[in-house]
Amino acid sequence: MNVPAATLISTSARPTDELAAKRERVDGMRFHLRHATRDEHDATEAAFACFDLSTRDGYRDFLLAHAGALAALEPSLRNGGWSGWTSRRHLLQTDLRDLGILLLPDLVEGAVSLPSDAHLWGAQYVLEGSRLGGAVLARNVPAGCPVRYLDTSASDQVSATRPWQEFCCSLEEIAKHQGGSWKDDVEQGARTAFALFRHHANTTSGHVS
Ligand code: HEM
Repeated sequence: MNVPAATLISTSARPTDELAAKRERVDGMRFHLRHATRDEHDATEAAFACFDLSTRDGYRDFLLAHAGALAALEPSLRNGGWSGWTSRRHLLQTDLRDLGILLLPDLVEGAVSLPSDAHLWGAQYVLEGSRLGGAVLARNVPAGCPVRYLDTSASDQVSATRPWQEFCCSLEEIAKHQGGSWKDDVEQGARTAFALFRHHANTTSGHVS
């Protein structure tokens, strides 16, 4: 699923603006993160591959793993980073309740270390980016299972990619004014978040983390 090329370009943009926007897309912070953390994404995707989403139990465990990661991450994310960030945890909790899980993970392992605003941007990159695969994954769950968390377009009547596009624009804007160490910290924040999701995938599925 590619973010449409038109995302960062106004329809009335002149050719030079289009060139600048194209360069920004290729050289920008989002693409830097995408390339720098591709190994993290692939390892995380592999960790979640053990959940069989076509069964109710497999789907429930997949959501439980996400719930564990969100419980540890979200308290920090309220403190800074992207001002447009909103929690999807209530959607996850409602889906899990519909699947019979009434007691949810609640900060069982304490908050993770995201020591600066840049780290928060990195973790938000991971959370917002995880929406991209969600709508696709939602198609694989058994008929009748709730998908409010995976496919927010179904519950919010909002395009699933709109928050992602807004996040990417804000990320590029703030990155323009930052130096190399800020970018390193964003990358580290993203790595921390990916690792946390992997940890919860592994512990929920019974694999050693
Ligand atoms: C469980 C199986 C998963 C599948 C099948 C999957 C699939 C995808 C797909 C199709 C994209 C779009 C790639 C593109 O635009 O070229 C994507 C992007 C992304 N996913 Fe996943 N994903 C999975 C799990 C996760 C998880 C668990 C996380 C994080 C917690 C995650 C974080 C991201 C991020 C940050 C991006 C944006 C990458 C970019 O900058 O383009 N994904 N994923």
